[in-house]
Amino acid sequence: MTRGLFITFEGIDGSGKSTQAKALGAALAKDGHDIVMTREPGGSPGAEEIRHLLLTGDPDRWSAETEILLFTAARRDHLEKVIEPALMAGKTVISDRFADSTRVYQGATRGDLRATVDTLHDLMIAREPDLTFIIDMDPATALSRGLARGSGEDRFEDFGLGFQTLLRDGFLDIAKSQNGRCIVVDGNRMSDDITADIIAQTIALL
Ligand code: ADP
Ligand code: TYD
Repeated sequence: MTRGLFITFEGIDGSGKSTQAKALGAALAKDGHDIVMTREPGGSPGAEEIRHLLLTGDPDRWSAETEILLFTAARRDHLEKVIEPALMAGKTVISDRFADSTRVYQGATRGDLRATVDTLHDLMIAREPDLTFIIDMDPATALSRGLARGSGEDRFEDFGLGFQTLLRDGFLDIAKSQNGRCIVVDGNRMSDDITADIIAQTIALL
């Protein structure tokens, strides 16, 4: 059995990751691929419980250090219960966020905690996607889209525009340093145009 492909979507809040992940999943499924759609934080029952702790409540509820531990705990469960079994069964896994989000949100916004994030990742996760789409866009537009959803899971949106701008720079830095894995996609376009771009890039890899 050939190992499946692991694809992730990354970017700031409201940049269109969920929309594009769903569109890519639907296109690949139509083409006969066996697809597992998932998300972080969450994706497995235990990780979804940790998600609730992380995304609701006061922005100062957790320090960046505590967040690193909680996101990594959730990711470990998600990896063990959902991602690895699916990849081993030859399925294509599409995840809305993965470890790049921790590298940026926890590693590069509230002091330089990137070394801590990397150490814990190497110890507990030690897995990278085969392909990562980083959806890049204007933080003010993305923030207004994200908040307009009224999801009740806005703890990170509540840090404000300056925070989203730092995040955008952080994702672009990762794209530069990991350019064999990451593809930056311009998110300031009509949704269908972005999808066509992403499908073409994925098919080229498949
Ligand atoms: P994310 O998962 O990155 O937070 P979503 O895919 O949930 O982003 O999109 C956030 C909001 O913006 C949703 O209401 C969605 O319908 C809308 N949206 C997504 N992509 C676009 C686009 N290209 N142009 C305009 N609105 C969009
Ligand atoms: P998500 O539901 O994808 O939010 P959005 O649709 O607004 O992009 O992710 C939830 C939030 O969790 C988001 O603000 C980013 C944050 N997050 C981290 O801070 N670190 C992480 O490791 C992950 C996976 C998410």
